[in-house]
Amino acid sequence: MIADGKYLTALWYDGESESVLYIDQTLLPHQLIIRKMITFEDGLRAIRWLEVRGAPLIGVAGAFALWLGMRESAGRGAPEERFNTLAERLLATRPTAINLARGIRELKHDLHSETLLLQRAITFREEEIERCRRIGMNGVPIIRALAHKKSDGVVNILTHCNAGWLACVDYGTALAPIYLAHNEGIKVHVWVDETRPLNQGSRLTAYELEEHGVPCTVITDNAGGLLMQRGEVDLVIVGADRITRNGDVANKTGTYLKALAAFDNGIPFYVAAPETTFDYELETGSQVPIEERHGNELQVETPDVAVRNPAFDITPARLITGYLTDKQTL
Ligand code: MRU
Repeated sequence: MIADGKYLTALWYDGESESVLYIDQTLLPHQLIIRKMITFEDGLRAIRWLEVRGAPLIGVAGAFALWLGMRESAGRGAPEERFNTLAERLLATRPTAINLARGIRELKHDLHSETLLLQRAITFREEEIERCRRIGMNGVPIIRALAHKKSDGVVNILTHCNAGWLACVDYGTALAPIYLAHNEGIKVHVWVDETRPLNQGSRLTAYELEEHGVPCTVITDNAGGLLMQRGEVDLVIVGADRITRNGDVANKTGTYLKALAAFDNGIPFYVAAPETTFDYELETGSQVPIEERHGNELQVETPDVAVRNPAFDITPARLITGYLTDKQTL
């Protein structure tokens, strides 16, 4: 997608330097800095400190980090052992998104050739981009149908966190249908939850939408309920970090409250995700490991007060109108 007037993706392989380049998302929207991932430790650090973040992107970044780790440890022990040790360390960085495990799985069968490992990571990245594009295509008809019903033709869509191209290499999940609808001339306006405590909404989603020319307004995380009661929200679309067999969704903290408010107000609530975000091994959302992050992210000013910072919550399937996937709308 477009950033600083040029076409960019969140992460890509650079053949010249034989390394991985990525946008450091901790510095946006103030600085667009491209960093180099040269070692496994670089990849681990980038994922842990949210320089790369968003479920599909950490899956892809994890796959490249594994390739780097296998390359630098070549000749030092059995490939299976080296791979398992690296995979274990990667999985510990961000436990909620299933995409990291999926990225690891993608590389599992090519352990004996670094060239094949790299090729697999490159292909996986391309496949994720294509899956996101398809999510967009599958979501546009929903937005188009709502536009036909509006007297002013403007569809007001609320989203939480950042589920755009920055979170997914390109296009995004929740934002993909919005970009494609906007491109085809459908009038959309996006309510952007700021998404405390790290503000992925006001920093990243707002940045993406502004760069692409999509009208948007940042709101506090708790304003959505009022806007829904007043008829100012036509549709909610969010992304997902993991979807369990029964359709429960783990996503950024605050998603559940938006789903409750949407349900109470009869507003369609869609979850957009590629098939790499579906976890067919877990039955319900209660089994999903929830990442607990450091309390200092909340920047609470009262000294010594206890702070809790779960990074994700679970939205039960009964509150979800449908799932926008790369295969179909469910
Ligand atoms: O902690 P983050 O910024 O990695 O959380 C990201 C989200 O919760 C996104 O909504 C989710 O990964 C979907 S990304 C397309």
